[in-house]
Amino acid sequence: MSSPSAVFSRDYKGPDRPSIVRGRGMYLEDSTGRRYLDANSSAGVVGIGHGRTEIAEAMVAEGESLSFVYGGAFNHPWQEKLAKAVLSVAPANMAAVYFVSGGSEANETAIKLARQYHVERGKPGKHKLISRWQSYHGVTLATLSLSGRTSWRQLFTPYLTPVTHITPPYEYRCAYCADRGGCTLSCADELERAILLEGPDTVSAFFAETIVGTTATGLVPHPDYYARVREICDRYDVLFVCDEVLCGYGRTGKPFAIQHWDVEPDIVTMGKAIGSGYVPLGAVVIAGKIVDAYAAGTGRFVHGFTYSGMPISCFTGLKVFEIAQREKLFERTGPMGEKLKAAVKGVAEKHECIGDVRGRGLLVGVEFVADRATRQPFPKEAGFTAKVLAGMRQRGVIVSPGVPLANFGKDGDHLQISPPFIIGDEEIGMIADALDGAVGDAVRSL
Ligand SMILES: Cc1ncc(COP(=O)(O)O)c(C=O)c1O
Repeated sequence: MSSPSAVFSRDYKGPDRPSIVRGRGMYLEDSTGRRYLDANSSAGVVGIGHGRTEIAEAMVAEGESLSFVYGGAFNHPWQEKLAKAVLSVAPANMAAVYFVSGGSEANETAIKLARQYHVERGKPGKHKLISRWQSYHGVTLATLSLSGRTSWRQLFTPYLTPVTHITPPYEYRCAYCADRGGCTLSCADELERAILLEGPDTVSAFFAETIVGTTATGLVPHPDYYARVREICDRYDVLFVCDEVLCGYGRTGKPFAIQHWDVEPDIVTMGKAIGSGYVPLGAVVIAGKIVDAYAAGTGRFVHGFTYSGMPISCFTGLKVFEIAQREKLFERTGPMGEKLKAAVKGVAEKHECIGDVRGRGLLVGVEFVADRATRQPFPKEAGFTAKVLAGMRQRGVIVSPGVPLANFGKDGDHLQISPPFIIGDEEIGMIADALDGAVGDAVRSL
C-alpha cells in the first residue's frame, strides 16, 4: 500500500509527525495551533532562536543582488567576511575557513584535507584515521566510517572504510578507571597505542567530538585529556581534528568547545548553529600550518561541493554571527547551562532511574538506569527513552532521544537537552517540570 505522502518518509511505521508551520524564539507551532517548547534547538541547530525577522529581511535584500555564484571560479565578499568573523573567535593558530553546507560535508572535507596535507609534505603513507566509539560524525560513508555509533553503522558495514576506534572519555561507565577513584587519562593514552599499532607513518588524523553529542550526550573529558591528546598527536605527526558540529559555535559557553581546554587543534569542523537553521551551512576551520603546507605545495585542494561557500549562506551566517555577538549569546550559554543542569539535577533527586546528568553549557545529557547502584541499564525492549520523550512532548516540550549505548550498542537510555541560546529561566522551569512528569509516567508504565 503506498503512502498518501509524496515525501519519502524517514519512518513509515512511526507515529504521524506534526506539520510545523511557524517558529518564533524558543517555540514551534504546528498546523493545529499547538505550541512546543523547542528544547533541542531542532537537532541542535537553532542557536539564535526561530523566526528572526531581521534575518528574513536581510536575506530578501541580499538575495535580490546575488543569490549564487560558483566558488570554484569566483570569490564574493560574504565568504571573506564570515571567514574573518569565525577566525576572530577561534583558537589563535587558526588561519582559514572552508565553507560547506553541513556537518557531514565538513567532516568529509576534513578527512580529505588531512590526507592531502600529509601528501603535500612528502608523507604519502599517512592516510589512516582514528576516532572514538560512541561518537557521531555524519551519515556519508566516510563520516559514518568515522562514527562510533554502532546502531547506525551496522546496515552499511559493507560500504564502510577501515577506521580504528578507541575508547571514549565516558566517566560514568569507564572501563579503565571505574575502580581507580578517578580519571587516569588511560583513554587518552589508548590513542598512542592505536597509533603505534597502526604504524605512525600510516596515521593521518584523530577525530573527536570535543564534547560528545547524541550518541552519549554531554561527555566532557577530564581537564587534562585534550592536552594529552595534543601531545600524542604532535609526537607522531598526526592531525588533531575537533568535531564541533553540535558542541561548537557557542553552545557550551565559549565560541569553540576546545577553548575550555586551552588546546589548539589542527582542524575544527562546524555546522548547525553557524547557520542557525536559516541556511544550510557548515565550516572547516583550518590551522595555519595546514594552509602553509598547501601554499608551499601544489597549492590546490582537490575537493569542492557545488554549494561550498554559497553567497546567501555566508551572508546569512554573518547575520547570525552579528546577532550572537550583539546579544552576547556565546557567553550566555555558560551560565544558562549551569541553571539548566541544576534544574535537571533537581529532577534527578526525585527519580532513582536518573543515573547521570552531565554536559557543559546548553548541551545536557540525562542517562537513565534500571538500578542506580549497579548502573544497570533498562533493557532496550522497555523503550524507556521513547516513553520519556513522548511524555515530554505531551507536555509540550521537545528534546532529542540519545542513541542506545550503555551495553555497547544494545541497551542503554539517555536523552539530550540542547535548547536555543536565548533560553530564559521560565523555559528552564518548563523543561524540568516536563521531565519530572514524563519520567514519573515512564517508570509507572514499566
Ligand atoms: C557531532 C556531529 N558531527 C556531525 C554531524 C553531521 O552533521 P549533518 O547532519 O549536518 O550532516 C552531526 C549531526 O548531528 C553531529 O552532531
